[in-house]
Amino acid sequence: MALSDIARLVTMTPPIQDLEGKKVLVTGAASGIGRATATLLAAHGAELVLTDIAADGLGAVVDVVSALGGTVLAQRAFDISDYDAVRAFGADVLEAVGPLDVVMNIAGVSAWGTVETLTHEQWRKMVDVNLMGPIQVIETFVPPMIAAGRGGHLVNVSSAAGLLALPWHAAYAASKFGLVGVSEVLRYDLRRHGIGVSVVCPGGVETNLVNTVEINVLDRDNPKVRRGIDSFPKVSPEKVARCIVDGVVHNRFMVFTSFDTRFGYFVKRKFALPYEIAMRVANDRFDYLARISERGRA
Ligand code: NAI
Repeated sequence: MALSDIARLVTMTPPIQDLEGKKVLVTGAASGIGRATATLLAAHGAELVLTDIAADGLGAVVDVVSALGGTVLAQRAFDISDYDAVRAFGADVLEAVGPLDVVMNIAGVSAWGTVETLTHEQWRKMVDVNLMGPIQVIETFVPPMIAAGRGGHLVNVSSAAGLLALPWHAAYAASKFGLVGVSEVLRYDLRRHGIGVSVVCPGGVETNLVNTVEINVLDRDNPKVRRGIDSFPKVSPEKVARCIVDGVVHNRFMVFTSFDTRFGYFVKRKFALPYEIAMRVANDRFDYLARISERGRA
């Protein structure tokens, strides 16, 4: 193997080093991480294509971005799990805007529960929105990027629950581990097209998801349960947005947004027994919260 071949295999110049004038799709733009990322991208001079299921929130973000002097090339409210809606938006965007430079899958929902309490609808919703949603966006927007031959970047927002066996996260993990797998394969598949891939694995983030997450079993009004939930460390969505942008311009594959997840993943890969013990302790802690809830209800 020639030296130049080795150099090609071990190095890759970040395809997107500057976001100025780049066309960027953001899903889940109406709230939390998506909203903070859209705003930050606008400040970097990116031109935005925005979507979310929440029409009002999306309109508000478009107003904020425009007020900051940013450019919104296209926007539409639709359900990311609706294949036909994604395809229709993709066709309209391609015609009006052309191929994109960066695609960011940020929209998501969450539900936690034990296997006896998770409903079929919850399992299906996690996979439909958090896994099939990003897949549909990838199949719609990435092939035109490849055909354009300009390179680019793909960002998939997974979760700490896409790397670690967090208690009661089986349905959410089905989607988020799946998204890590998709990202890891595409990282190598898309390399030859000059398209970088980042998978973002946040721990707790102070967003509306903390309120909308469906938690079966637990009584959230119980003060001890409330304290237990509130005690999870959380970072701001603005910090996550900065990590995402940093991950794109430096072409980082794994993007962590807090030390806890980075450390947990390191321990899982290097120290199997301490990882197993930590997961059992976490599981016991959730079980304890469930028993408190039960007692409160009795
Ligand atoms: P958020 O609830 O503030 O934002 C999620 C956005 O996705 C909302 O605007 C919502 O309307 C949109 N959305 C939900 N279902 C949709 C659908 N079917 N079609 C289109 N849009 C839809 O929550 P956050 O925290 O900003 O979530 C962003 C991503 O970060 C999600 O993928 C979530 O799983 C992930 N994440 C969040 C963490 C947290 O602690 N908040 C931790 C780890 C990952």
